[in-house]
Parts: sequence; structure tokens; C-alpha cells
Amino acid sequence: ISPLAPLVISFLHPFLSPSSLLAEPQIIQYLLTSQFANISSAEVSSMALIGDIPILTLDSANWSIHFYWPWVSQAAAESDVEKLMSQYKIGLRNFIRFVHEIVQQTEEHYPLVVQFRAGCVLYPNTTSQGFLNVGWRGKDLVAFEVDKQHWEAQQPSQVAELVSKSLNKNKSVRVLLKLAPRLCSHSPELPVATVFTRSPRLDQLLLVCHVTGFYPRPISVAWLRDGQEVPPGPVLNSSPILPKADLTHQLCSVLAVAPRDGHSYVCRVRHQSLGTRRIALDFTHAASTIGIIVAVLLLLATASAGVFWWWKHR
Ligand SMILES: *[C@@H]1O[C@H](CO)[C@@H](O)[C@H](O)[C@H]1NC(C)=O
Ligand SMILES: *[C@@H]1O[C@H](CO)[C@@H](O)[C@H](O)[C@H]1NC(C)=O
Ligand SMILES: *[C@@H]1O[C@H](CO)[C@@H](O)[C@H](O)[C@H]1NC(C)=O
Repeated sequence: ISPLAPLVISFLHPFLSPSSLLAEPQIIQYLLTSQFANISSAEVSSMALIGDIPILTLDSANWSIHFYWPWVSQAAAESDVEKLMSQYKIGLRNFIRFVHEIVQQTEEHYPLVVQFRAGCVLYPNTTSQGFLNVGWRGKDLVAFEVDKQHWEAQQPSQVAELVSKSLNKNKSVRVLLKLAPRLCSHSPELPVATVFTRSPRLDQLLLVCHVTGFYPRPISVAWLRDGQEVPPGPVLNSSPILPKADLTHQLCSVLAVAPRDGHSYVCRVRHQSLGTRRIALDFTHAASTIGIIVAVLLLLATASAGVFWWWKHR
């Protein structure tokens, strides 16, 4: 089972209102209903919702996705949606095969309706709670206990036993569920920035600022020449903001300069997770500057610990 949750949430999270604006819990969820008429048939329909607003649906005839809002399709277009969709379709096929296998192994019979519900409740206090349930013939069958990281039967039946046992053993389901805390978290993640140089030609130096691991998606990355922001133009090249497997984001900003042109260059990063602070990396001294800052911080920490110890044992 490969629910659409990663797709939906990675696209939609940046568009959700900040938690401070949420007066009441907000539910993001993905619903799937599948009807199995006989051993050779399965019809799947699914949709994703924020609250009660539909965001996207799956066309049951050709498994294509219909986006309800232009900003969703735009976000989808900017992300690696093709890859996610092919993984999603593989997941759907596995899910259908899984249900047919379960019917073979138990005393179950067709026709049969299986439902799947996955999502997050986002609370105004910025905490969140994930949920993942499977329904069978309109009744709760199994549920994923997030705290225990374990599927549990929700009814005393052979099919509930078997399904929870197979899901607990299934490697790809486990891998997917490792993402769950990230999916449901709406706390910002700090960007990590590195700068380095490339010289494709003798008369040109490329200054690369690579920023990764940040969440949510909006970010500002700029190159400063002698303290002044370099305006957009042919010498400045930025990659799109790309999603990573852990649902954080990354991008590269590349500035072309002449070698030893006498200017100073700084990559500046602003992001929600940094608050009013910013990351500023001087490309010439990048490694040593960070090294010095870390060393000074360690020294301060050691010194204050020492002072505190001395004061306590005076
Ligand atoms: C299985 O169900 C589908 C959909 O109801 C139907 O079109 C098909 O003929 C059925 N196949 C068999 C082998 O009964
Ligand atoms: C899928 O089917 C719907 C109609 O059911 C159609 O509007 C849509 O264009 C189709 N998509 C693709 C990719 O074939
Ligand atoms: C946040 O709110 C939820 C729902 O009201 C509550 O269950 C949870 O304990 C709260 N968490 C914190 C850290 O306050």
C-alpha cells in the first residue's frame, strides 16, 4: 500500500495557513474506496481533502489525477510528480493484489468493499497526530498505532489478524511509515547551507550555494556582492526548489564571476525556521569561518560549564 499521503502533504503543506491562524484542528486526509466484484475485478476511487475541501481525486477509469485548484497543479508541476505517480500506481496495484490474496487465504468472498483512510490532524498548538485505518465491508479492520509503530486488529476476525500480521511484516509499508512523523509535522526545519566553487572555464568561476533540508518550502537565497544583493540576470542561476525523500526541500543558487575580481561574495539565506536570523556564508572563507564559529561556541560552552562548576563548588 502506497497511500497518496506523501504526494498530497508535500504539495499542500506549504499552502496551509500558519498554525497560529488555525483556530481549530485541521484535518488533511486521503481516502480510498475499492470495490472488488470478483477475483479479476477491482475499481478504485480516491480523493484528498483539507477539512471538507476536495484537493484532488483519482479518476477510477484511467487512474489519472484531477486537481481541483490551480495552485495544487502548479505545485505538482514543480515537483517530481511523474515519479511519485508511477510509485503511487505501483502501490495501488500492490494493494489490489494484496486484497485478492487475503480473500484467497481466508474464508472471505466477493463482492467486497475495502476502504483506506490516512491523514493528519494538525492542532492549533502546532502538535499533530497521524492516523491510518483500513475498513473492510464498512467496518474498522486494522489501524496503525503511531506511538507503537504497529498495526493492530480492530475486530476479532481471521481477516483482521492476517492483514495486521502481513502489514507489520511488509518492508515497503514500514519504510513508508517511517515518513509518517515528517508527514504530520508542521514544524519548520532549519536549512543547511554550503558554498563551493566550480571552474568550467579559465576565465569563469561559478560560486555555488547549496541549501538543503528546509521546511516549509518558501525560502529566500541571494548572492551579495560587496554587501549588495546581485539582481536576477544572466550571471545568476537558481534551480527550482526540489522536494527530497524526507519531504524537506533543497535548491542551488549559482553565481558566475570572473576569478579574482576583487569583490567579496556572500550567500544569504532567509527562512521561516530561522526567524529574524539569517545564514550568511562568505565563499572565500566558508569552511574556516564556520569552523571558527563552532570552535568559539564550544569554547564558550566549556568555559561557562567550568564557571558554573566552580561557582557551585566554591
Ligand atoms: C467481474 O466483475 C466485473 C465487474 O462487475 C465484470 O465486468 C466481469 O465480467 C466479472 N468477471 C467474472 C469472471 O465474473
Ligand atoms: C481519464 O478519463 C477522464 C474521463 O473519465 C478524461 O477526462 C481524462 O482526460 C482521462 N485522462 C487521461 C490521462 O487519459
Ligand atoms: C495540543 O492540543 C491537542 C488537542 O487539543 C492536545 O491533545 C495536546 O496534548 C496538545 N499538546 C501540547 C503539547 O500542548
